[in-house]
Amino acid sequence: DDKKVIFSGMQATGIITLGNYIGALKNWVSLHEAYDCLFSVVDLHSITIRHDPAQLRKRSRDLLTLYIAAGLDPEKNIIYYQSHVPAHAELAWILNCYTYMGELNRMTQYKEKSEKNEDNINAGLFTYPVLMAADILLYQTDVVPVGNDQRQHLELARDIATRFNNIYGEVFKIPEPYFGEVGARIMSLQEPTKKMSKSDENVNGFISVLDEPDVIMKKVKRAVTDSDREIRYSEDKPGVKNLIDIYSVMTGTDIENVVNHFEGKGYGDLKKEVGESIVEGLRPLQTRFKALSADKAYIDEVIKSNGDRASYLAHKTLRKVKKKVGL
Ligand code: ADP
Ligand code: NA
Repeated sequence: DDKKVIFSGMQATGIITLGNYIGALKNWVSLHEAYDCLFSVVDLHSITIRHDPAQLRKRSRDLLTLYIAAGLDPEKNIIYYQSHVPAHAELAWILNCYTYMGELNRMTQYKEKSEKNEDNINAGLFTYPVLMAADILLYQTDVVPVGNDQRQHLELARDIATRFNNIYGEVFKIPEPYFGEVGARIMSLQEPTKKMSKSDENVNGFISVLDEPDVIMKKVKRAVTDSDREIRYSEDKPGVKNLIDIYSVMTGTDIENVVNHFEGKGYGDLKKEVGESIVEGLRPLQTRFKALSADKAYIDEVIKSNGDRASYLAHKTLRKVKKKVGL
């Protein structure tokens, strides 16, 4: 077919949050019929920081299962583990030889991560963006849905691809970024000026997509707002604004109508209804996740068959690259 190709992936560093769901997964679901999509569990990226092997294995499987539970169809898309397709690592090595130290030195995420992991600043952490370039370029990807934090990495992938093409002719398609709907950045419930993150030490700051309903209600009830009482959508009210954003996405109501809906109501009402909108919005995903997790054979089959499909596509590009380089 002539559909455009999308590649995207997430790391299994923990059960994904409501932020990941709204900012990534939910967008993927809205795109997956119109594009040929590859959704990867990028487990090779995960080992750039110290981790527990058993936990990584479990979290990777849970993440892959969540992709399917959220509505991504493994018949119409390719849902797979990065590490099951050796071409990722092979192409990353080749692209390392076409990437300059100076370029990698400028990556802000590397700087942040190496400050946080001072005892383990390894070479993999440094060349992480090259592996990401390989992930994308292997599949002749047209479009990459990215958050703001990944913009710089995608820019680098484009630079590497352009450089390679200039030397060897048209080998790689130059990928374009796709930014999800605006306002889809979900903030911490405890510090609403920071993004909601699964690596937050305060568990009340984030909602995991697998949190039980009573846990969700409790976390939203404790969400930090302000000493004002008015439910207004404004940058100077980040806590309230965040709750309105969440309600808007979870109920599919535009901001103006959400604000009208809450007119004259208090923060207690707002939190109760936001909590309920999350519980209801995540219910189908949670139900499917439980059923899928219990079906070990099905998930194993998806891992195998989708991994094979990814390998087939990846090898087409890798073969071309090796030939060009003289390997
Ligand atoms: P985390 O900080 O939770 O570990 P990642 O960096 O692994 O998140 O991001 C995975 C995907 O989820 C990316 O596409 C990213 O843009 C998106 N994302 C992460 N946090 C949020 C958030 N709070 N709001 C919206 N999107 C988010
Ligand atoms: Na598709």
